[in-house]
Amino acid sequence: MKKALITGVTGQDGSYLSEFLLNKNYIVYGIKRKSSSLNTDRIDHIYSNNKFKNKFFLIYGDLTDVNSISSIISKIKPDEIYNLAAQSHVGVSFELPYYTAQVNAIGTLNILEAIRANELQSKTRFYQASTSELFGEIQDKKQSEKTKFYPKSPYATSKLFGYWITKNYRESYNMHASNGILFNHESPRRGETFVTRKITRGISKIILGIEDHIKLGNIYSLRDWGHARDYVEMCWKIVQHKKADDFIVATGKQHTVKIFIEKCFKYLDIKIKWSGSGINETATIVKYDQDRYPNLKKNMKVIKIDKKYFRPNEVENLIGDFSKSKKTLNWKPKTSINDLIKEMIDSDMSESKKLLK
Ligand code: NAP
Ligand code: GDD
Repeated sequence: MKKALITGVTGQDGSYLSEFLLNKNYIVYGIKRKSSSLNTDRIDHIYSNNKFKNKFFLIYGDLTDVNSISSIISKIKPDEIYNLAAQSHVGVSFELPYYTAQVNAIGTLNILEAIRANELQSKTRFYQASTSELFGEIQDKKQSEKTKFYPKSPYATSKLFGYWITKNYRESYNMHASNGILFNHESPRRGETFVTRKITRGISKIILGIEDHIKLGNIYSLRDWGHARDYVEMCWKIVQHKKADDFIVATGKQHTVKIFIEKCFKYLDIKIKWSGSGINETATIVKYDQDRYPNLKKNMKVIKIDKKYFRPNEVENLIGDFSKSKKTLNWKPKTSINDLIKEMIDSDMSESKKLLK
């Protein structure tokens, strides 16, 4: 049985990857960090599943604490390490640049050095969660493995170090160390402050009368959104590939945040109308079924713009070219944006209903 170690196991991708690997009969060790309140919501159902008894283990550790990382790696001697842990919020990285660099850049180096210090470089394969944010100010219409990087935030800059140090350890020490350059991927388990989840959760609360509007920043940025469940399969494929390499993981389709909002309301059969511009732009409810949505009111302003959510520097336009992944690893995304939205809204509707009980 193969042993996998996942950093960031309590995050969105960590939870899907744990399920995926356990279903492939791996023994999975997850590193969770100490927090003053429970941070295992996304993996509690795995931990309590009898099917995975004695196959799923959680260990305290922190990427910024090299001793904890090295001692975990020395005890487990994993076949595969998936480094998913990060301060992953681009907006927050402008407020916490040092911390973001410590976790995302030095944290990655801490793992690579721990592999070497424990002389596991020929046994342990390493996966680094790299990101489309590396492309930032885009240099190609569609971004591929050959596109030049131009990071535009402390987050992206810290991930640039993570990307290059992974490549550097591959080349210097012949390690099986790979980068997945993943474009945005979402799910019902997405953190509540990322834009898609903020929207699906916010709309559910508006429908149930818990809140009456959502405040957003730049609704004109374009993103290539896929489903996290599809993307973790590709993380695993990258690690299984005979040769360590770097791969784009994307859908090849892009939408603005504004279109994402429109699609959410369309799925719910609610018609909205946009008016105003810039900071004064709003979306108003114009048509809906009163019996189905008793808490809605005609002309309710459900989307407002708040400058608080604008970033000092914005990545306006991302769209990935995943042809290398398709050709080399026979991977392609399975979930359409409409199916992703359906799954997120359905899940948030039932989560929000629990708040009313
Ligand atoms: P996420 O939900 O924010 O999860 C991040 C995980 O990292 C959480 O488990 C978090 O623990 C953990 N973590 C944060 N700081 C840590 C530290 N100092 N030591 C140990 N663990 C720490 O992120 P995600 O969406 O699953 O993304 C997974 C990875 O892929 C991240 O590296 C992200 O940057 C990258 N990525 C994500 C996307 C995307 O669209 N989702 C795209 C490209 C790349 P807590 O639960 O305690 O906070
Ligand atoms: N979070 C957030 N909140 N974003 C908003 C808001 C808001 O209220 N209003 C508009 N946006 C815009 C952001 O400015 C950005 O252009 C876009 O919505 C997407 O923002 P996020 O969902 O926060 O994702 P991201 O693209 O910045 O970063 C995510 O994807 C990266 C891959 O490209 C994160 O998961 C990163 O960790 C990941 O690397």
